[in-house]
Amino acid sequence: MLDVAVASRFGRHLLDVEGLSAGQLEELCDHAVEMRAARAERRHRSLLEAETVALAFFEPSTRTRVSFELAAKALGATTVDLAVEASSVRKGESLVDTVRTLERTGVTMLVIRHGSAGAPNLVAGRSGLRVVNAGDGSHAHPTQALIDLLTLREALGSLQGRTVAIVGDVAHSRVARSNIHALSAVGATVRVAGPPAWVAGFEAWPGVDVATSLERALVGADALMALRVQLERDAGADGPALADYVRDWRLDEDRMGLANRGAPILHPGPTNEGCEITAELADGPRSLIGRQVENGVPIRMAVLAAFAGAA
Ligand code: NCD
Repeated sequence: MLDVAVASRFGRHLLDVEGLSAGQLEELCDHAVEMRAARAERRHRSLLEAETVALAFFEPSTRTRVSFELAAKALGATTVDLAVEASSVRKGESLVDTVRTLERTGVTMLVIRHGSAGAPNLVAGRSGLRVVNAGDGSHAHPTQALIDLLTLREALGSLQGRTVAIVGDVAHSRVARSNIHALSAVGATVRVAGPPAWVAGFEAWPGVDVATSLERALVGADALMALRVQLERDAGADGPALADYVRDWRLDEDRMGLANRGAPILHPGPTNEGCEITAELADGPRSLIGRQVENGVPIRMAVLAAFAGAA
């Protein structure tokens, strides 16, 4: 029953960044730069015409879902949105059955976001679809890490020997976990920083430096990456009260003065407005937040092409 498509040299699935070498991460970023130009010039418009890409988002999303859809369409794939709320998932159909149904209708690639860590791995093992993880629980968000890598590379040049501080609700963040892998792989020093409950355990992560004061987070940092406080993942239950977080950890222009000169600020979005960073910082000259969003479509074009075996 399973029509096993030819594996690309990147593998059949993008489930995590862990499986990618530094060379492959850099290659996907290079490829995204080419895809950005191709999109503007309307090239490669039939590269993925043999593919049918299903978007199955079991959690809310704007930028990730929209950019995957635009990326697939820019390369000529057929797309279908599972619209979870209106699908048979509501009637209790299991995840594996839903995915097998998609496969029987002719879907070839699945882009999945799910609240449970490991859901993309499960469906990758139980169907013939090629699977791209668009975020699973607190586990991984590989395309966001690629976006952040490209954005940082374009702002700072090589990341070898640079220090990137990831600040905030690290414990609940799939973005943080994938960034730790990706940034370490390309030779950056990763510092995670936040209230003790949100960075606990990260000292065991090879090469990761843990800071529990904002000053320690900032001094010597070449770039700062703020994370959304994951209120839906119980951040409130084990962490500080939001007002205390804002007082002790919110990044603003003044506090950024402790970091290395010109250090940029990133945030994967969406922000809890006024909580992780001030509006002035988000909209100011240090902010790469808009660039992160802009890099979403080219990175996802590069990923879809690579994992379809078309690159
Ligand atoms: C992130 C996500 O959903 O994992 N957002 C995103 O994909 N741009 C981060 C978050 O929700 O905090």
